[in-house]
Order: sequence, then structure tokens, then C-alpha cells
Amino acid sequence: MSREKSLDKLGADATQARAWSGRFGEPMSERMRRFNASIDFDRRLADADIAASLAHARMLAATGVLSDGDRAAIERGLEQIKGEIERGEFVWSRELEDVHFNIESRLTALVGDAGKRLHTARSRNDQVATDLRLWLRDVIDAMTESLRALRAALIDLAEKHADTIMPGYTHLQVAQPVTLGHHLLAYEAMLARDAERLVDCRHRVNRLPLGSAALAGTGFPIDRQRVATELGFEALCSNSLDAVSDRDFAIEFAAAAALIMIHLSRFAEELVLWANPRFGFVIIADRFCTGSSIMPQKRNPDVAELVRGKSARIVGHVTGLMVLMKAQPLAYNKDNQEDKEPLFDTADTLSDCLAIMTELVATGLEPVPDRMRAAASEGFATATDFADYLVRKGAPFRDAHEAVARAVRYAETAGCDLSELPLDQLRQFSPLVAQDLYAALTLEGSVANRDHPGGTAPARVRAAAAAARAALSISVNK
Ligand code: ARG
Repeated sequence: MSREKSLDKLGADATQARAWSGRFGEPMSERMRRFNASIDFDRRLADADIAASLAHARMLAATGVLSDGDRAAIERGLEQIKGEIERGEFVWSRELEDVHFNIESRLTALVGDAGKRLHTARSRNDQVATDLRLWLRDVIDAMTESLRALRAALIDLAEKHADTIMPGYTHLQVAQPVTLGHHLLAYEAMLARDAERLVDCRHRVNRLPLGSAALAGTGFPIDRQRVATELGFEALCSNSLDAVSDRDFAIEFAAAAALIMIHLSRFAEELVLWANPRFGFVIIADRFCTGSSIMPQKRNPDVAELVRGKSARIVGHVTGLMVLMKAQPLAYNKDNQEDKEPLFDTADTLSDCLAIMTELVATGLEPVPDRMRAAASEGFATATDFADYLVRKGAPFRDAHEAVARAVRYAETAGCDLSELPLDQLRQFSPLVAQDLYAALTLEGSVANRDHPGGTAPARVRAAAAAARAALSISVNK
């Protein structure tokens, strides 16, 4: 009860105490108040807001703008607010619009005039840009770790299946045999590039806007480098107008996130196919599947479908953020308040998808090598090996290709595989054919032959897995 009361009281006081209230002849309309408020979502920036305010206050004291007593009072007040937020006791007020006003107002209630001095040489414009960068930097670090876990799970599974033969596809038609390990490492390679993109993007996120104030900088003697050092920023934003207005760092992160989601979605799509009994390449554990409310026989791969579906949200968020930015004149515009929800949802969705995919790959996928092998044995997957065999015996590749194409057509009519045709029949297509062709037509021979960096030979897959694992432990300590 008393909490509720204090909310009303705080709200009313704060509304009267609004920084700009003296300028206006009437209070804000109730509808406008709700329309304008961002507190329901930007309270997520509270930790970052407090950290940035602490650094700002310490800097102002160091340069003599704030007294040491005020600095100490601000530190004490902000520490208390931090505790209140952590314990869930902090009363957020929509009347106070956003996270910045909420915290500043509580600070002033706690420590009086020192709280009102905190905003010297600062604007909410450089404040929100700083908060968002601090928040995003943590998100990037967490996502890099999550990616690492998924990559490790993929590498483990790939290593186990370095010898497991499956059909490789182009156009979703059987093309050539590959190993399951090789196929899984293809996704690891995509995610490794995604991790690089995050690390790269982090450098541009990790620059300090604070000190830009509203747009033009400030006349107070400030020490931006000191603030940057305390907050762990690697550089200062070099132009105040740019610093308060551009959100390219957020767009860049969202784009990197979208690429991760596209990679996850491709993998998810394959799992949907592979879990289908027509393929039967993999069994997804029951705990990742759902049934149907009407069809008793159903067992649906919802985990993969949801990951595939959620990629659409993130692709949408990148587009949304770009459109949000595209026609904004310099410098800050309130449009930018709209950057938060898509960005927050991007982080949350990505985090959920990486976590569930990691659990799935590490514990919930059971490959079925027999089914994969059977599928690789159909569809003339070793026809290229036949052609390569003829080339090794001296035929020009184009002639070899034509000869094998005719042999495939013949085998298809006969309803058998190339390796099931007797030698005399195979010789009809080329006099170069001899008994040793049969060895070239085996699935094992085909994959073992592709023995070069990037190839599917089991030995290469094992080496690639080892290299990927080594790269993983290097990239942790970037
Ligand atoms: N809630 C605002 C945002 O997210 C904070 C900055 C407001 N600045 C202003 N000049 N109205 O962008």
C-alpha cells in the first residue's frame, strides 16, 4: 500500500519538477504521457545508466565541476538505487517517462541537490546512446559465448560422425556422398564467421558518446577519456552530432544477429527434412518434439520449426532499425526511442535460439547412419567418381561425363545402381572401364578420395574438427 502511495507521490512531484515544466502552460495530456513513455522497456538499461552516471559524476568531480561532497552523495544514492532495483523494490513511474528520469528523480529524492547536479554537462541524448552501447557490449559478449557453446557441440558431433556417410545434395537432389561430420562442420564454419562478425562489430559499439551532451558538446571542462577508461570504452565517438544520433552500431549488431539466425534457420530446415520418415536421417529426442491435438500419430519437430520461424523476426528487426534511421536529419530525434524494442527482442530471441539449438545438438539428436547410407546408395551419387576414373585413364572430362551420363540412363532403366552392372555392360560406355572401376564406385572410396583441405575425406574431417576446436579456444581470449 505504502509503495503504491509513494508511486503516486513520486509521480506527481516529479511531474511538477520536470526539467522543462516551467516552459509549458499546461500538463501533458494523459494519452501523450503514455505515448511518450519508454519506461516499460528501457528500464532494462538501468544498470548501464547507473554505471555511466557514476563515471560521469566522478569525472565532474575530478575536473572540479562537482564538489567532492556532491560526488560522494551521488555515489551513495546510485548504489542504493542499484540495490533497490536488484531487490525489485524500485518503484518505476510512467509519469517519469524513461529510465533516465526515473533514476535521476529517485536520486534527488535520496540525496537532494547533489542529485540535481548530476545532469551537468550531460543530456539524455548522450546518456541514452551511452547506455545502449554499454548494454549491447554485454549482449555481444554473451552471444559470443553462446555461439561458442553451439560450435563446440557441433564439433563434438561432427567428430563422432567423421566416417558416417550420407548423401550430399545440390538442388536437394542427391549429388555426391559426403560425411555427416563434414556436413555438420559446414554449419560450424558459418557460425565461426558469425563470431568474427560479432567481435568486429563490438569494436564499433565500444566507443563513448558521453560528453557530446545534447548535440554540440558542452562548455564545462570535461574529461571524456577518463569516462571512457572507467567504463571500458576503447575510443571516444569522434563527433558529437554523430554520437547522439546514429544507431549504426545497433543495426550492425542486428545484421550480425540476422545472419546467425539465417544460419540456424538453414540448419533447422535440414533437421525438419531429416526428421521426416522419408529421410529418417535423424531422430530428434521426444523432449524437443510436440504431438498433435487431433492426430495421435504425430511427432512434430517444433524446435526446428520455431528456430526457422524466429529468424523472420530478426530479419524484420534489422529492416525496422534501418528504416528507423534512414531519414533522420542530424542530430538526435525521438524516433530513436523506437530502436530499443527491436534491439532487445533481437538479443532475447537470438539468445533463446542459440541455447536451445546447443541443447539439441549436444543431447537431442540421434543420427541414423543406416538411413543415410541407404539414401547415398540411391541416386547415382558416385557417378562423378566414375567420370573421374575415366579421366584418370586418359579420357577428356567432357567425354567421360557423356559416357557416364549414358551409363546412368541405362542403369536407371535397368532399375539398379551403377556398381550393380556387370563389367561387360559397363564397358559398352567406355573401353577404358576395367575391374578396378568397382572400387571407385564405392561410397567409402568416393569420400576418402576427396582428401584435401576443405574436402569430405574422414581424415580431413577429423583434422578440420581439431582445427575448429583449437580456433574456438583461441577466440575465447580474443
Ligand atoms: N527515451 C529517450 C530515447 O530512448 C531518451 C532520450 C530522450 N531525449 C530527448 N531529447 N527527448 O531516445
